[in-house]
Amino acid sequence: LLAHLANTVNPRDTISHIAVFGAGIMGGGIAQISAMAGYTVALWDMIDDALASGVQAIRKSLIRVAKKQNRPDNWVTDILARIQTTTDQLKAVESADMAIEAIVERLDIKQQLFAKLDKAAPPNCVFATNTSSLLVGDISRDVSDSRKQRFVALHFFNPVVMMQLVEIAYTDKTDKLLMDVLKSWCHSVGKMPVVCRDTPGFIVNRLLVPYNAEARALVERGDATIEDVDVAMRLGAGYPMGPFELSDMTGLDTGYHIAKGWYESAPGLKGNPLLKPTPQFEQMIKDGHLGRKTGRGFYTYDQ
Ligand code: 3HC
Repeated sequence: LLAHLANTVNPRDTISHIAVFGAGIMGGGIAQISAMAGYTVALWDMIDDALASGVQAIRKSLIRVAKKQNRPDNWVTDILARIQTTTDQLKAVESADMAIEAIVERLDIKQQLFAKLDKAAPPNCVFATNTSSLLVGDISRDVSDSRKQRFVALHFFNPVVMMQLVEIAYTDKTDKLLMDVLKSWCHSVGKMPVVCRDTPGFIVNRLLVPYNAEARALVERGDATIEDVDVAMRLGAGYPMGPFELSDMTGLDTGYHIAKGWYESAPGLKGNPLLKPTPQFEQMIKDGHLGRKTGRGFYTYDQ
């Protein structure tokens, strides 16, 4: 069946309904681009408030896109109508062709979610994690062997609607023919896929996390200011944002947990002193200075 699907290379033959777990920045973005591409979406989160603010963020983003692209009045509402929300995990996945998880970056919680979904999802449903730092092999530990063949990472970037890349990471168990379907699916939602093995941070975060850590170390030593480091990387290296602006956008807590987790236990990275969160960085997290979302990170923002 998969050989046939890979040859047709039309992802819509296999995938039409997508379940997204987690209505935060990433999950909401994934739901948004899927619905924009014509897929129907079941968006799950734990509580109604999280779903309501997720949908509100999607609406705001769609309005921005509609304005830029001169879309007709009903464009936003038509896309939103393709997104159904639910707090029932089993209901979300029962008729899904693909389940994409973007919940909290905790291995045990992701493992529990997928073990539960495995029992309720159709046998052909593809399971994908949007993990930033954990291993797909670990996250898929408790699902059936047949599901492990259909288990990958689909790693998106923030802001999902703007960033063109998706990393597809596979394990030793992933059916390689599935990769063609997933690559076509990425193209169908307007993204460029790259493929990599299941290693911590895949490609982008493996390079970005040490880069951010080095930037923090440079400033903590007093070698340059935050502002000058950001200007330097924008104008000297051509990055759209410097490391501190970027950390404020993605959330300092995200970077903190990735670096700490890798320092404590990641294969090939454990004990790397660069990744050990410094007392200053720890303090920012304790004080709740997590970036744009809290109004203060390395910079301060009007809420
Ligand atoms: N929704 C819809 N449209 C958006 C948008 C959103 N959320 N964000 C930006 N846009 C569009 C709008 O059209 C906007 O124009 P508008 O203000 O008139 O509506 C246009 O983009 C330009 O936006 P801005 O003027 O705000 O700023 P920029 O031109 O700098 O673009 C950016 C914003 C695309 C975020 C750019 O700065 C960028 O590429 N930054 C780097 C982002 C990056 O590196 N992301 C990866 C982070 S790592 C990660 O995600 C991995 C994870 O695992 C941690």
